[in-house]
Amino acid sequence: MENFVFYSPTEFVFGRDTQVQTGPLVKRYGGTTVLLVSGGGSVERSGLLGQVRESLSQSGIKYVEQKGIAPNPTDDRVYEGIDLARDHGVDFVLAVGGGSVIDSAKAVAIGVPYAGDFWDFYCGKAQPERALPVGVVLTIPAAGSEGSGNSVITKLDGKHKISVRYPMILRPRFAVMNPELTMSLPWFQTACGVADMLCHIYERYFSNTPATDLTDSIAEAIMRDVMDNALTLKEMPDDYDARASIMWASTLAHNGLCGTGKQEDWSSHRLEHEISAWYNVAHGAGLAVMTPAWMQYVAERNPGKVMQFAVNVMGISPDGKTEAEVCRLGIESLRGFYHTLGLTTSLRELIGGEPDLDLLTESLRGNMGDTLGFYVPLSMADCRKIYEAAL
Ligand code: NZQ
Ligand code: ZN
Repeated sequence: MENFVFYSPTEFVFGRDTQVQTGPLVKRYGGTTVLLVSGGGSVERSGLLGQVRESLSQSGIKYVEQKGIAPNPTDDRVYEGIDLARDHGVDFVLAVGGGSVIDSAKAVAIGVPYAGDFWDFYCGKAQPERALPVGVVLTIPAAGSEGSGNSVITKLDGKHKISVRYPMILRPRFAVMNPELTMSLPWFQTACGVADMLCHIYERYFSNTPATDLTDSIAEAIMRDVMDNALTLKEMPDDYDARASIMWASTLAHNGLCGTGKQEDWSSHRLEHEISAWYNVAHGAGLAVMTPAWMQYVAERNPGKVMQFAVNVMGISPDGKTEAEVCRLGIESLRGFYHTLGLTTSLRELIGGEPDLDLLTESLRGNMGDTLGFYVPLSMADCRKIYEAAL
């Protein structure tokens, strides 16, 4: 096991009706004037935004709103949010929504106290030293941004979709998580969220670091639980306990717990980010395509962990089978799981046409350099083959 720092200081306030605590939570963490960030309208329609406004007002907190943050959030809205926050003397950023809203809010939070261009933090030109505090009212279990120090923003000019990790300053101060709020999600978004949280675990699970049995067992238990509860929700979308398990799992998948003591991989995410940047598909839908293709490719070169995943998570019996057969059956079973959720595992089907693999590979090289990942280090030629295998 490797040395590690696990720093997860977010206060998670979980359960029914917890959104009414938003105002007191902002107050507790020092907010007096809030930038209230939301998405394309689901939270207005559900009445959640009204409840949050009321809770802020009752706590004597002023707010200014930035609405309409779209999935795969872009830099133009971040600049707008920074200006809005500065103009109104904002001292706290509150995201009401999913990963896209939260990530845009986080980018504003590091951008406001910085004299330069916030994109400096995404292109590697500068490291942020401070950020406005961020709070979250979560509406979709998926990205795990409510408990992560990450933010993913796309620069419109060049379609650079870049993920940054600043855990010491960007982890939300609190995250309000009411599973009932996720019942208004279209099934497709629930399914995409499941694919995303599972992949956050794969990125940590598929590792060559030895002696990580405890971390691996935690990861396997969460993956099995997510898959079981996703199948329950497919039949009974209003099952509160299944919603609750999935929601908590989305946080545990990405707050660092499943990576403690291990070298992490992150190839599938990097491969996918090019797809959602260029074809504007849902991130989780892109991962359902890329992860089985990636797994198949690495299983032929380093089967150990893929075999363990097939047996311990997908329930494949290894008796009388070769290592290659067990891996193949595990990956087939994973594809079958995504299909049951209604997600495609074909890149062509995902984007509804022929993807430009040269564009994806060159853009990946531009953003990530010549190699990717650690479980099996991938050259750009390997990445191109994985895109081909995903077609
Ligand atoms: O915009 P609205 O109208 O709110 O609709 C949203 C959006 O269309 C809808 N939605 C959310 N909650 C809802 C709801 N609809 C009905 N009822 C509700 N309760 O769902 C759609 C998707 O929302 P989005 O925020 O885009 O989803 P998600 O949480 O999957 O976030 C995706 C973004 O997060 C990034 C992805 O790359 C992508 O840009 N990621 C961020 C990470 C991080 N910061 O740690 C890690 C991830 O790997 C990921 O890359
Ligand atoms: Zn993800």
